[in-house]
Amino acid sequence: MAPMRADPLRYLSEELDTLKSQGLYRHLRVLEGEQKAHASFDHRSVVNLSSNNYLGLTTHSRLRERALEATRTLGVGSGSVRTIAGTMSIHMELEHRLAEFKRTEATVVFQSGFTANAGTVSSILGKDDFIISDELNHASIIDGARLSRATIKVFPHRDADSARAIVKELPRERRRLIISDGVFSMDGDLGALPELCDVADEFGCIMMVDDAHASGVFGRSGRGTIDHFGLHGRVDIQVGTLSKAIGALGGYVAGSRALIDFLYHRARPFLFSTSHPPSVAAACLGAIDVLESEPQLIERLWENTRFFKAGLQALGFNTGASESPITPVIVGDAALAMKLSDALFENGVFAQGIGFPTVARGKARVRTIVTATHTRDELQFALDSFAKVGRALGVI
Ligand SMILES: Cc1ncc(COP(=O)(O)O)c(C=O)c1O
Repeated sequence: MAPMRADPLRYLSEELDTLKSQGLYRHLRVLEGEQKAHASFDHRSVVNLSSNNYLGLTTHSRLRERALEATRTLGVGSGSVRTIAGTMSIHMELEHRLAEFKRTEATVVFQSGFTANAGTVSSILGKDDFIISDELNHASIIDGARLSRATIKVFPHRDADSARAIVKELPRERRRLIISDGVFSMDGDLGALPELCDVADEFGCIMMVDDAHASGVFGRSGRGTIDHFGLHGRVDIQVGTLSKAIGALGGYVAGSRALIDFLYHRARPFLFSTSHPPSVAAACLGAIDVLESEPQLIERLWENTRFFKAGLQALGFNTGASESPITPVIVGDAALAMKLSDALFENGVFAQGIGFPTVARGKARVRTIVTATHTRDELQFALDSFAKVGRALGVI
């Protein structure tokens, strides 16, 4: 009989026990039914303040019909990576539409925003190059930067003067990429984009913006923060996601024809992972139609944002420096954030608690995101629940 084998993965259970002792262990909440403003999670009907479904497009009839039609006529899968047999005409149509929408020469669509960021940063730079990155940039940028083997220089959050001081010391003959989120996903504030563009212009750096949370939210028809700040022509690489306001799945890079051709040849997720099913591309095409023909959705998103943010602030919660529909309720202690989130859930509101490593230690929070499809009654109900639970837990 073979000797009893010690479990070589035992350390994982030990780490999970540590998470439990710190109140950071999370069960996945399970959504029954559709992703909507009022939804059922874990068999409880709640006002949903946790999705990135800013415009309610996950269930929009136009996207649904486009996806169904594509499935009927084109099947359920692309069957290959883009560079072999998996480039369908609908993928090319989506890239052309996105380029028109973003006002750039070209775009390339990736499987997700994560792979768009990581695949781009890792392929355009090498070990002799430099990346100057906001300290709160998204994990996909950090992973792409590590994969590139370039030297990573982190500047304090939104501090363009510090970014400038870093760039000033770097050799001009090397490639230098300045990179920032357009909207920061945990704080809801905006990157220092105009000031960072000035630094990039002055020192000849490549400028890149991850606009995952801005696409469909900021700028004319939701064109993003580059449009919002009037920075067209000054940002070399724009990343957007199709998974949040656009309501489906995917990411894209918008920029020059040469940039996109280069990514077609070198971005590893593009080369080595199968492309979207036609239904996903079709739904995204439907979403761009909606952005252009239903401006009232973005208007409603902002009305709801103003109402809810003002309500939380009037109650005395610390909502940080948010300028977007993402409003954090910062409590500091991770266990308290999870307790607040759980108590809200018991009271009919789903707002996810977030702690380390997603945010820094001591900056734990409950994150809220309103959508265009929340009704006033739903938002008022959520504010009442926040008031009740916040007082009971001594947060306000
Ligand atoms: C700032 C930021 N960039 C990129 C991503 C990744 O986008 P996706 O969910 O499409 O992979 C996210 C979402 O989680 C994000 O918040």
